[in-house]
Amino acid sequence: MTALVIDNIGLLVTGEPELGEGTLGLVRDAALVIEGDTVAAIERAGAAGDERLDAAGRCVIPGFVDSHTHLVFAGDRADEFAARMAGRPYAASGIRVTTAATRDATEDELRRLARARRAEALGAGITHLEIKSGYGLDTEAERRSCAVAAELTDDVTFLGAHAVPPEYEGRPDDYVELVCGEMLDACRPHARWIDVFCEEGAFDADQSRRVLEAGRAAGLGLRVHGNQLGFGPGVQLAVEMGAASVDHCAYMTDEDIAALAGGDDTVATFLPATDFSTRQPYPDARRAIDAGVGVAVATNCNPGSSYTTSMAFCIALAVRDMNMTPEEALLAATRGGARALRRDDVGRLAPGARADAVVLDAPSYTHLVYRPGVPLVGAVVMAGVVVLLEL
Ligand code: NIG
Repeated sequence: MTALVIDNIGLLVTGEPELGEGTLGLVRDAALVIEGDTVAAIERAGAAGDERLDAAGRCVIPGFVDSHTHLVFAGDRADEFAARMAGRPYAASGIRVTTAATRDATEDELRRLARARRAEALGAGITHLEIKSGYGLDTEAERRSCAVAAELTDDVTFLGAHAVPPEYEGRPDDYVELVCGEMLDACRPHARWIDVFCEEGAFDADQSRRVLEAGRAAGLGLRVHGNQLGFGPGVQLAVEMGAASVDHCAYMTDEDIAALAGGDDTVATFLPATDFSTRQPYPDARRAIDAGVGVAVATNCNPGSSYTTSMAFCIALAVRDMNMTPEEALLAATRGGARALRRDDVGRLAPGARADAVVLDAPSYTHLVYRPGVPLVGAVVMAGVVVLLEL
């Protein structure tokens, strides 16, 4: 098998504390030896290989793992964003605007749009991501969305319970029945996860539980959107049902934090670009981390509340506005994302892991925060293949 060596790495973030210094497992003056799609070894700079990528003293990090995206949609909501910046509050009812456009789009259009967004995310250093459906909200449009997502990732989430569509206005229980029956059957072959938006104005605790139970019975893992717009039952429900992740968590009581800390590995996934783009309060990440909660940071790329594929931007917000350290934020966007997807093959650069690496055009990962808005992704290696090289 031919070996690719990323050589002359000034600072290598392995993400494995036992492999180097500190929580990030830092190794200096290193070479990353890759065989096939897997990390084979970490050696001193100057290691031999068939193919060589010279990092020239730069910092190399694990590819970002984006555990929360909604990449499959049509349409644009820039006017809604502009109105919000002028003072109008965020309303999840905007989901219906995207639903109308997504229903009108053909599968080929959705494929082209989703692929372009996936390529944009890769250019931003995201080497693995989760993709949700949730803008179709009828059986065929949800099936189409899941099928398109499954061409781009093996972490597809069925989110039929994203909002009650207009034709079910005032009949949310009937819609939940559709989601748990025919729609789940159609989406199940393409999905690994099921998700529900458990929030006032979307689905209440009982409806959310029904959706999660149906998904579990169909063999899907569980995820929850919760506590985004106010306090509510989402976090507690996610922990109680053993969900892999509860996402948003902008409003958490002491009981919510205690439940997450004492639960069976439900990760709190923070989506700071959402709070930025909706002018909502940021989650109290410090309180959660200090209590021992496992956390992730993700982009939540979607047309309504967070239209970005920049994980670097999310990391900068997590540090600047959520009081996470640069180390905590980087870990949350790599290993944390992997943990939120219950995987250990991505999010770290250790022997045996998938060879997903980003060469930053910077001497240290702190530059992700120190140089906000500057594109620092110099090269991307995904599953052992150099897919982007701009050094
Ligand atoms: O995660 N919270 C629900 N869903 C998306 C936003 C959807 C939209 O506004 O289109 C989110 O923020």
